[in-house]
Amino acid sequence: MTIRHFTTLADCTPAELAYLIRRAGVLKARHRAGERHAPLPGRVLAQIYEKASTRTRVSFEAGIAQLGGSAIFLSPRDAQLGRGESIEDTARVISRMVDLVMIRAFRHETVTRFAAASQVPVINGLTDHAHPCQLLADIQTWSELRGPVAGRTVAWVGDGNNMCNSYLTAAELFDFRLRIACPEGYEPDAALLARHADRVELLRDPLAAAAGADLVTTDVWASMGHEDEMEKRAAAFAGYCVDAAVMAAAAPDAIFLHCLPAHRGEEVAAEVIDGSQSAVWEEAENRMHAQKALMEFLLLGEQAD
Ligand code: CP
Ligand code: NVA
Repeated sequence: MTIRHFTTLADCTPAELAYLIRRAGVLKARHRAGERHAPLPGRVLAQIYEKASTRTRVSFEAGIAQLGGSAIFLSPRDAQLGRGESIEDTARVISRMVDLVMIRAFRHETVTRFAAASQVPVINGLTDHAHPCQLLADIQTWSELRGPVAGRTVAWVGDGNNMCNSYLTAAELFDFRLRIACPEGYEPDAALLARHADRVELLRDPLAAAAGADLVTTDVWASMGHEDEMEKRAAAFAGYCVDAAVMAAAAPDAIFLHCLPAHRGEEVAAEVIDGSQSAVWEEAENRMHAQKALMEFLLLGEQAD
């Protein structure tokens, strides 16, 4: 059987992504009903973190445990990877012992190189380029609350970062339109922008991006690895806060999402993230349900039950 990886959303077809979103909803309902669904007994997930995490770590660890398996946590501080052992050698060794690997890395190339040398599926738990697991949770949340997302419009306000890149990829695979408002010099990946130009608009004005949008979303001004640029970024992103005025420009039933962690008063106003249009807590919970669907899919394929 060919090994399936999840390094970006584009590793799946639109039909497979639609399955994952549906399946995440099924697994969520079963979990909430207290039903045990443990199709992965004895399976082991290795998680490698070069950066901090709350949601990703807890959602993967709780998720694999609920599916009947277990997780191992590794950081470069305690693995030989942090002392110069190559990514390929690490992948060859780890993938002989576990069933699935999740990596959160600074460089996207770390995940793709690891995947190329791995005997088991590799999941991207965030890189400088993409955060595909978060998009599964975002699309699950949006469709749970508002129905099919095809043909709808998303407004992205702020940094053209890993999350923004994943929204660009998602726009095509889930068939929605995307308006990005970012300051000059903070655009998303140029190749992705060019590839999805038919459904993506790059603007400077958050209000213009939000006009009539069905979903408004944003992320921190300084992603992990860019903390030392915070002062410069705070100046560049002044005016890129999702506040009540931005939400008022969106469709009346628009929802607000944020992958979290959030900085109230910077990229989002407290009145928005803590307000009635915000679905960020459901979104955070859905990381677990979506990733359970993903792990089950990568190891067992699509499930009928
Ligand atoms: N959204 C997200 O990935 O959060 P963590 O950094 O806490 O994992
Ligand atoms: N763009 C943020 C997302 C954190 C989940 C970062 O990379 O730090």
